[in-house]
Amino acid sequence: MSGDSPGLRPRNALSGLGRYTPGKKVPGTVKLSSNENPLGSSPRALEAVQEALVGLSRYPDGSAAALRAALADRFGVALDEVLVGNGSDELMMLAAGAYIEPGCNAVVGAHTFSQYEFVTRVFGGEVRAAEMPDGCFNLETMRQRIDAHTRLLFLCNPNNPTGRYIGERDLVQFLERIPPHVLVVLDEAYAEYAEARDFPRGVELLKRFPNLLVLRTYSKIYGLAGLRVGYGFGAPAVIDALARVKQPFTVGNLAQAGALAALEDDEFIQRSLETNRTGKTELYDALQRLRIEFHPSEANFVCVLLQASAEIAAEVMQRHGITVRTLGSFGLPHALRITVGTAEQNAKVIAGLEALERRTE
Ligand SMILES: Cc1ncc(COP(=O)(O)O)c(C=O)c1O
Repeated sequence: MSGDSPGLRPRNALSGLGRYTPGKKVPGTVKLSSNENPLGSSPRALEAVQEALVGLSRYPDGSAAALRAALADRFGVALDEVLVGNGSDELMMLAAGAYIEPGCNAVVGAHTFSQYEFVTRVFGGEVRAAEMPDGCFNLETMRQRIDAHTRLLFLCNPNNPTGRYIGERDLVQFLERIPPHVLVVLDEAYAEYAEARDFPRGVELLKRFPNLLVLRTYSKIYGLAGLRVGYGFGAPAVIDALARVKQPFTVGNLAQAGALAALEDDEFIQRSLETNRTGKTELYDALQRLRIEFHPSEANFVCVLLQASAEIAAEVMQRHGITVRTLGSFGLPHALRITVGTAEQNAKVIAGLEALERRTE
């Protein structure tokens, strides 16, 4: 290998930008570090992907017309209010590509999904983080961080990694006070799991708030993280701005076919929801019995708050056959995020938590 060329100079915005740290994969352990569906994938999606294999010599439909039409129909929006991307990660990157430039900023929470900061910085924007006491977004502080140069404000509901959520009334009151030059990106990656009665459905707020972009994904409850499909809803002008910075073929034939079929797989979604509901109760019961603090979660993971080092705790869990996510990169060095698994996987988690407690006694 030859050395680096001294003449090459990446953009200034990239200096100091770290690469994404994904949830760890440790061979021989159950991976509960990336909030994937423990039941696997929607069977209907898998069947559709198999059937779509014959069409692989052709480029995909760049407009993902059939999938967008199905999503528009399901969520009660117009076709020009829907965009499909290579995971919702791509849609975040498109939002930054469409709205952020040097001199602009984005407002985020201090303990939330790292991609919001990443995409903003890639386009040379400044990131303004607002504190999140007790793992919750402090909407008033976030609003105060807005200035004339703010272009984006990211909310994650329910929030990764804390699992906390913003209720309907708080969200609406907040949106009413956001100036029109700020696009609020409401990331609902885990919304299908949320069962709180006042959990808001962002898509229903679009008519009132044209400066809202709602993001969803097939990576979580549909069990299709490897297929890479996400979708977004917004006013036609917002969707158009994002579409203009998008490469044409980022959502492949298989991804479009699988996503379309998964949308109809109510049986799998119900089963996933029930598994998550039961599993969360199992974990909550054990955590309470062991007197370990945690945030109540509206998602498919639980954020556990420890006294001791999370790194050591993760090692103990690993010895019990479970890989969990330490949250130092989310600004929470004493916390672990554990994806809710099957009953068998949760039993291993609980055995690991018990071992952890024995160490700290
Ligand atoms: C809050 C949040 N948004 C988006 C994503 C990424 O979704 P996708 O796989 O659709 O890119 C994740 C994945 O972990 C997430 O936690």
